[in-house]
Amino acid sequence: MGGWALAIDFGTSCTTAAVAADGRIEALAFDGHRRLPSLVYLDDAGGLIAGREAARRAEACPERAERTPKRAFVQKTAVRLGDRGVLTADLVAAVLGEVYTTALRRQGGTAPDRVVLTHPVRWKNARLRLFAAAALRAGLPEPEFVAEPVAAAVHRTGRERIDWGRYVAVYDLGGGTFDTTVLRRTLGGFVPIGRPGGDERLGGEDLDLALLEIVGRRAAEAEPAVWERLVSTGNPARGRLRRDVVGAKHALSERLSTEVRPEGFAAGLRITRAEFERQITPSLRHSVQGLRGTMEAVGLAPADLAALYVTGGSSRVPKIGDLLGRTLDYPPVVQDDSPCVALGALLVARPHARRVPWTVPRTGARR
Ligand SMILES: Nc1ncnc2c1ncn2[C@@H]1O[C@H](COP(=O)(O)OP(=O)(O)OP(=O)(O)O)[C@@H](O)[C@H]1O
Ligand SMILES: [Mg+2]
Repeated sequence: MGGWALAIDFGTSCTTAAVAADGRIEALAFDGHRRLPSLVYLDDAGGLIAGREAARRAEACPERAERTPKRAFVQKTAVRLGDRGVLTADLVAAVLGEVYTTALRRQGGTAPDRVVLTHPVRWKNARLRLFAAAALRAGLPEPEFVAEPVAAAVHRTGRERIDWGRYVAVYDLGGGTFDTTVLRRTLGGFVPIGRPGGDERLGGEDLDLALLEIVGRRAAEAEPAVWERLVSTGNPARGRLRRDVVGAKHALSERLSTEVRPEGFAAGLRITRAEFERQITPSLRHSVQGLRGTMEAVGLAPADLAALYVTGGSSRVPKIGDLLGRTLDYPPVVQDDSPCVALGALLVARPHARRVPWTVPRTGARR
């Protein structure tokens, strides 16, 4: 088998990957799925496992699991899983290791010539160094880096032409973070312009909590005693409810109403898209204003953009398209369902991907 390359888009809730081999770039499948849950679980032997098997085991023992290792990696050095402290860099290594093992198996065990890791555009060199160290600990070769919005924009250029020198903006509402970036088309791809914006505390996780709040209010009115029992114990029914609420959130992107039935309830609770939108509209308005701010900071008005790319799973909430369309006066381009960041990362020519200097800069040197 010839040389091959691997790109990994390590996400807050899900991780995706792509492989370039034999002249083709394809999404990597994990047991038939294109998304691998980023969840990490501490097993009885003290080992860390990641992905679908980890998510299944976490159902019975949620206190042994970290559902959002990327967020944890940014916010703290260690977390408690069960009765043990675990370094967040080891959580990252567990996820990357799971992807790498799957990719190696697909490629017959030969090591790749190139590994590209995508990263939030606001991660600085210090964070990338820790990220690279986690990759090496997981057994990967030294990685190159491509910022997530660059990869997303490059992926789109397979579909439409953006002339050299023109600008595009990327609005990315993922699982754990929200990012806005203005990029300029260059000969080799795209480069971020100005200071990227966003909110590290806004993502699908927060939309889940907003919907959970609506469900909680409704449940407490309908059957107070049953609800009290459900939330007061460490009972796995809470984990199942949370999963069901995520499903309901996805359903509300397609339908005007849905139903959630917490365990022990005699009847389902009907939730409408309108009430979910009322709950989340302030955060979404703030995100659209954030995009405006990022553009204004580099002196661009909506009419100056060649395109606005909308990425991240959470941007499938229909209200976002409405708000963006109204603000910009033209329809945003919403990404398709493919792992576009991982696929796009492999289309970024090697000289445009970055390697991170391993040495710490001297005092006074710029990072
Ligand atoms: N149809 C949908 N409607 C609403 N939300 C959705 C839909 N599909 C997926 N999501 C949400 O998108 C989020 C995951 O998006 P994505 O895979 O882009 O994030 P990530 O890569 O894990 O996170 P990040 O990029 O922030 O690190 C989850 O919160 C998920 O519930
Ligand atoms: Mg992502």
